[in-house]
Amino acid sequence: MFEVNDLHAVLIHRRREMEIVNGSPAGKALPHPAARGPRIFADTADINEIAPLYEAGIINGVTTNPTLLKKAGAKSWKEAKAMLTAILRLMKPNPVSLELTETTIAEMVDQAQELYALGAENAVIKVAIGGYPALDPAKDPFTGLKVLRKLWERDIRTNATLIFNSTQAFWAANAGATYVSPFMGRLADYMYKNDQPELPVGNSLYWIIDHKNSQGDQRTHNSEYVAVGGARKDSGIRLIREIAAIFANYDIHSEILAASVRNASQLTEVFLAGADIVTVPAQILRTVADHPLSDAGMVSFDNDAKVFAG
Ligand code: E4P
Repeated sequence: MFEVNDLHAVLIHRRREMEIVNGSPAGKALPHPAARGPRIFADTADINEIAPLYEAGIINGVTTNPTLLKKAGAKSWKEAKAMLTAILRLMKPNPVSLELTETTIAEMVDQAQELYALGAENAVIKVAIGGYPALDPAKDPFTGLKVLRKLWERDIRTNATLIFNSTQAFWAANAGATYVSPFMGRLADYMYKNDQPELPVGNSLYWIIDHKNSQGDQRTHNSEYVAVGGARKDSGIRLIREIAAIFANYDIHSEILAASVRNASQLTEVFLAGADIVTVPAQILRTVADHPLSDAGMVSFDNDAKVFAG
């Protein structure tokens, strides 16, 4: 199997082509050392969580979804829109992802325009890549891709969400998505619970039960198996690496927004994997400057510094 780490050089090249995140004002002598660093977004719809993180310079974007809006206290669409409007205003000009709740193409495009009008400068419309037939088998499986394409045609920025393999990421980019959001945590959670350890990784997602291979073996996988390959525990991060490698290979500029983060150490993993952005729950972001040895070191420096006081 190919090793995506071999693509380190092309990943670096891709990043050099991406937008500057930490711009320096004209005339500044000391250039920002992380001008093209990865961006960190807050994965929450609670403005009380967002404001302190933004004011501290920790985040430069926000992602929301219906679950997060409900958790933040929205009880109606009107309340949800009021909350989103406040977040858009606070974060301007940084991107805020607003997820569609309609599920048919025409209604989704109308709702996208309604949400976009809440803050055209920084609104990003979040569109689920697939899953529509799971709501109703009669629904068009390409609903998400068609909406992404229509919004691209209207110059509306989009975030393709609920991405679980690199194929979905490619198709989202092909449809015109500004951002693609692979859900690393949910993928790893699923694999941890459902994969059978004695079988190849990804067996619970890609097992083909009604098909035999040329040796008459029924235990075959379709080609998407590779999209969640790698050691069982790193299925989420493997997905990010694969998308980064494909986007680098083909000079695709949709930004890779690593989502569904479960702990602070995953930030290191996604940065090594080549993600452009990572969206992180506020309770995890609050801990990123912490380490028990930083605590111990601070206490000892502070103690020793007492000798200089006064
Ligand atoms: C991404 O944009 C989603 O809002 C989010 O990361 C989903 O994460 P979860 O798996 O923790 O719900």
